[in-house]
Amino acid sequence: MTRPSEDTLFSPSRRSMMLLAGAGAVGAATALSACSESASAVTPAANDAIDPDAIAILSSNENPYGPSPKAVEAIRAEAGNLYRYTYPTVMKFAEMIAAKEGVAPEQVLVTNGSTPILAAFSDWVNVKGGKIITSAITYEGVPRVAEQAGTEVVYMPLTADMGYDMEAIATRVSADTGAVYICNPNNPTGKTIPPAQLKAFIEDVSAKVPVFIDEAYLDMADDYPAGVMSEFVTAGKPVIVARTFSKIYGMAGQRLGYGLMPADMAMDMRNTGRLSNVNHLGLVAGMASLDDTAHFEDMRAKMIRGRAKLIAMAADLGRPIAPDPQGSFIYMDVGMPAKDFAAQMMDRGVKVVGERWSEKPNWTRICVGLDHEIEKCHAAAKEILTSI
Ligand SMILES: Cc1ncc(COP(=O)(O)O)c(C=O)c1O
Repeated sequence: MTRPSEDTLFSPSRRSMMLLAGAGAVGAATALSACSESASAVTPAANDAIDPDAIAILSSNENPYGPSPKAVEAIRAEAGNLYRYTYPTVMKFAEMIAAKEGVAPEQVLVTNGSTPILAAFSDWVNVKGGKIITSAITYEGVPRVAEQAGTEVVYMPLTADMGYDMEAIATRVSADTGAVYICNPNNPTGKTIPPAQLKAFIEDVSAKVPVFIDEAYLDMADDYPAGVMSEFVTAGKPVIVARTFSKIYGMAGQRLGYGLMPADMAMDMRNTGRLSNVNHLGLVAGMASLDDTAHFEDMRAKMIRGRAKLIAMAADLGRPIAPDPQGSFIYMDVGMPAKDFAAQMMDRGVKVVGERWSEKPNWTRICVGLDHEIEKCHAAAKEILTSI
């Protein structure tokens, strides 16, 4: 296929947008399962069985410390105001995000968590055509939805130190490429791409195809905010940056996220009507969270401390991990099938990721929990791993 011209990069035809709306049905369904747990790992029945007081849930990349008390207060205060549609509140929220990120409000697409942005982007590429290039062992939100819609995904191997191979990805971009998906820090390895390298990559690659940067965990990285890539959206490049309130803001259950992107692309996605279901309580909680900068800093410190505890746990267990993790999790080689390890951990009241990234069947992802949950995880893992 031929590469789209600059003009058409963000202006699918009316017919395309109708197709996009149809593809969105697939996306919406898959979006349900694309979040932090893999679809196969979490069924409603499986979740029903889990009592968070009895089981340390270290599999879902949630913030175990919960949301800002100011967000909770905002929800309480606004609970009686649910009879109105959310358009004015969405606008207010988008303006707040735009000011924070240095973009125009119309470049902000607000959704229920960032999963719908990932899915909508996959659908958008599917309509436009071309392959999605990403890395092996990365977050499935974009590639899985893309593949379900029939888009071919090219997974470039990781580097020896388990990072994205940016050079190989840049070299692979060609006339058959529709877009590139980058998760930074990557889930599950936790690796970040050095900001200067990522900026040079985006500069180069976004001149050819849209580049999607998923920053779900970036605010927990040591060098945050150096790695924030919204300046490319400000500059009007075909770059999409996705962020979420599910992680550092502790609102995974409330669902709130946003994408920064060219205004016409945001409008195309908005016009499908499939993303317009953001709820009032999420928006008011999100705005209160953004105002509560002290809570944000406290959460950042706590998540970084939790991550350090997980790193120390792996060292004590003598197990290798993907080096220098920068998200809310470690990716650890347990030296046995991760599926069996996860089952044995579950027997001991700890839920970790089992077999999710098939290229590394002996690797598990373990997320930050409360201190006592990490200690419980440590003890359980020690028992299992010293007996193999
Ligand atoms: C890298 C990444 N991106 C996006 C998401 C989507 O999260 P949410 O829909 O809760 O914003 C997740 C969830 O775990 C994630 O790990």
